[in-house]
Amino acid sequence: MTVPAPHLRVTDMVAGYTAGRPVLRGVSLSAASGRITVVLGPNGAGKSTLLRVVAGFLAPTSGTVHLDDADISGLPPQAHLAHGVGLLPQGRSIFPELSVSENIELGGWTLRADRKRLREAVDRMFVRYPELRALRDRPAGNLSGGQQRIVEIARLMVSNPRVLLIDEPSAGLSPAVATRVYEELVGLTAEGRTLLLVDQDVRAAVRIAHHVYVLSSGKNDADGDPSAFESDLGKLVRGWLGV
Ligand SMILES: Nc1ncnc2c1ncn2[C@@H]1O[C@H](COP(=O)(O)OP(=O)(O)O)[C@@H](O)[C@H]1O
Ligand SMILES: [Mg+2]
Repeated sequence: MTVPAPHLRVTDMVAGYTAGRPVLRGVSLSAASGRITVVLGPNGAGKSTLLRVVAGFLAPTSGTVHLDDADISGLPPQAHLAHGVGLLPQGRSIFPELSVSENIELGGWTLRADRKRLREAVDRMFVRYPELRALRDRPAGNLSGGQQRIVEIARLMVSNPRVLLIDEPSAGLSPAVATRVYEELVGLTAEGRTLLLVDQDVRAAVRIAHHVYVLSSGKNDADGDPSAFESDLGKLVRGWLGV
């Protein structure tokens, strides 16, 4: 399946949570379809805030978000969803008391008026993620951390988004499960989607990246080809820690 995905462009983004105290202070970046664009930076740099703005959960103070030529800046989250933008937020986001199937269904918000289409879309996720099939009626809270992350990805994918915003997908997972998650992200990009990935595991992220941005204190610090960062990741991270 090839998905015609738009080019994502963020220009001079200023955004924050308190008036007069912006977290993002003029960030610009560009993410191409069929490519993994990685955003790195120390804790508090504004990476999650950036994804929240692109997903429409936080309105920017100034600056724009474009999908190809369409300006979606400041539109409500539903409008971003309708444009095919999907966010996998940082941290655990499943509803533990709901079943696996119900959790996935929650991602089909845009299809909610058409029960049959929603049912079919959820069923497609059990084809895409066969390891969830036997778990479909189990409370999601009973699953392992890795299985829960796959449920979260299935919930994201049920609406078939073309622009994926993924925030720290491997946090708290064993190396084997993390590898499975990264393979999945590579596969979704190979389908032609646009992927903006934020990650604390800089080594794993740079390994699958096509382009890398580094943010620092809400501003662009550096960007380039992954090869430009690969050799000096240790130095980069030590710089963030101030050691
Ligand atoms: N919901 C929020 N309300 C107020 N401040 C927040 C909120 N989320 C994040 N911040 C602040 O914004 C800054 C950037 O946070 P964040 O975007 O989460 O950074 P990162 O993802 O790079 O670690 C931090 O100073 C953080 O305390
Ligand atoms: Mg974050």
